[in-house]
Amino acid sequence: MNLRELPIGDRSPAKASGLEGVVVADTRLSHVDGERGELLIAGRRAEDLALEDPGHFETVVERLWEISTDAPQPALREPLAQARTAAFARVPQLTRALSLSDPMDALLASTAQGSAGSDALEVLGALSVYVAAGARLRLGQAPIAPDAKHSAAQAFMSMLGLPDDPSRARALDAYWTTVSDHGLNASTFAARVVASTGSDVMPCIVAALGALKGPLHGGAPGPVLDMLDATAGKEPRAWLEDELSAGRRIMGMGHRIYRVRDPRAFVFERALARLATEDRGKSAIASRLEHARHVEHAAQALLRERHPERPLCANVEFYTALLLEAVGIPRELFTATFAIGRCAGWLAHVEEQRHTGRLIRPAARYVGPMLPPTVPR
Ligand code: COA
Repeated sequence: MNLRELPIGDRSPAKASGLEGVVVADTRLSHVDGERGELLIAGRRAEDLALEDPGHFETVVERLWEISTDAPQPALREPLAQARTAAFARVPQLTRALSLSDPMDALLASTAQGSAGSDALEVLGALSVYVAAGARLRLGQAPIAPDAKHSAAQAFMSMLGLPDDPSRARALDAYWTTVSDHGLNASTFAARVVASTGSDVMPCIVAALGALKGPLHGGAPGPVLDMLDATAGKEPRAWLEDELSAGRRIMGMGHRIYRVRDPRAFVFERALARLATEDRGKSAIASRLEHARHVEHAAQALLRERHPERPLCANVEFYTALLLEAVGIPRELFTATFAIGRCAGWLAHVEEQRHTGRLIRPAARYVGPMLPPTVPR
């Protein structure tokens, strides 16, 4: 029997193929209000959390994990530093994985290979070591050992070979804090699906990393900088129109949930403005920021003309690009750097999901050929 001749199942379009609006979990970790453009992380407004002094990344990790475990967390600065030291000791066995040409592939492979059996703290500590060591190895340079006295942000910068700079470390802290959690985004969902099967921590994070690699999720900030470079010193409109005519999307614009400007864009703009005023040597940051605002306004206006039915505004990735560039992170590491911050939330969600004890197993509608009815025997 030729399958093509058989009747097919229901082919009416699936209603919510992107699962928009479908609630599959309860969480106390973060709340995204897409209409008002508000983001709460661990019960605090993202901007308050990220721009307070001293707003270290470790603090938001402690808060998120306190919520997910329902238990007070010890200060994590020292244990995280120890986790980095332990991960660095594994670098010599991971050089092949770490040297893969795509930094996200390298992070995926090294996490899978080097972090089997690790707990949440060990995985979180390992990510920044793997990202930095991979970057050095790809340049033919020796990895730099983490300094046990450093905070997470200072350690990451020093492992990348960047100079010690408290203002830039503070900007990286603000960045990681802001991206630490964001509702049930694709990578967090991926982590929760794997956690729901009873798997251990590392595979949950590997699944999340795989989801984050995609340009529709975490892979946009590098292309945003390419766009800023391509439009530098010019009116951006013609360039943006060419992109849309070629069927490409404007990177850093639009969001599944936000119908207004992403609140994280405001946080990064403020962090950048703070960095730009902190010393005169950073005036390049101020002019880059000005250009980015110009491109953002041009892109928003153009997208409003093309999609009057749907507000498409700057998302987190737009100013991520600028902030990470200002910190000194090479653009090919932007998504991997995002992963380090978001890993705090992934791990908290893994814990939260485990508490539910419920396997996530949705259904698919079959639209392939049906078999003929069987004759009862
Ligand atoms: N540039 C151009 N057009 C865009 C756009 C963008 N950045 N974002 C959305 N659109 C258009 C789509 O082409 C679509 O048009 P159509 O209905 O004529 O096909 C419409 O707006 C709706 O897009 P859709 O893909 O349904 O929205 P979504 O909620 O699934 O998309 C994103 C959300 C983030 C995936 C999307 O806005 C996007 O691709 N942005 C660029 C990549 C990016 O910045 N990613 C980082 C996200 S934080």
